[in-house]
Amino acid sequence: MSERMGELIASPRVAPSILSADFARLGTQLDEVMDAGARVIHFDVMDGHFVPPITIGPLVLSAIADQVHDAGGAVDVHLMIEQPERQIAEFAKAGADSITFHREATPHANRVLTAIRELGCLAGVAINPATPVEDVAGLRGYADIVLNMTINPGWGGQEMLPESPAKIERLAPLVGSARIEVDGGIDASTVGSVAQAGTSLFVAGSAVFGSDDPAAAYAEIVAAAGAA
Ligand code: DX5
Ligand code: ZN
Repeated sequence: MSERMGELIASPRVAPSILSADFARLGTQLDEVMDAGARVIHFDVMDGHFVPPITIGPLVLSAIADQVHDAGGAVDVHLMIEQPERQIAEFAKAGADSITFHREATPHANRVLTAIRELGCLAGVAINPATPVEDVAGLRGYADIVLNMTINPGWGGQEMLPESPAKIERLAPLVGSARIEVDGGIDASTVGSVAQAGTSLFVAGSAVFGSDDPAAAYAEIVAAAGAA
């Protein structure tokens, strides 16, 4: 669980987000990107409260976890839900390798990060574009991943907010040894700017699965990011 994910994100990685995949043939879509080298699969959970849409949960995670793990991969769960502390055990049990919740969704961030590690997963905290970087400074040492949203969460296919690279530069000195992840509007043309600013884990949804050739699209983003 956390060991595999830790090894994978020790070097820069592009993580395809299945939010933009064709769910009628999800297994095939996973094979396509994993055959192309993807090893971190991003899994977006929305509850209809923290963000308006409702997406997928532990049932779908448990359906794909073995396939991802058998191919040497890991599942990066991104919870866009209220009261994440109530759900983390279910996601760990369903096969999550890392679990990231939103700083805005709970006043108990230290406790939730610690609980995620105790469940055997890497622990991540996410911040929305309007949340100041200082809001995660007190979590240094507790978080393995700090996810800086580069869009307002809820939907794939939005453009990266132009202020993102500058925000990541302010965030980088505050996170200690945690990896910085970005999510939203990442494609071959935007990934370079956030990589230079200090990011090493790049989520890409529509840029990969919205393409006619997800494997080629993945490879193009990897090349532009200098990642794997
Ligand atoms: C949106 C999700 C993202 C989404 C990104 O709130 O957290 O992971 O899949 O999609 P793109 O890459 O299309 O912006
Ligand atoms: Zn996400």
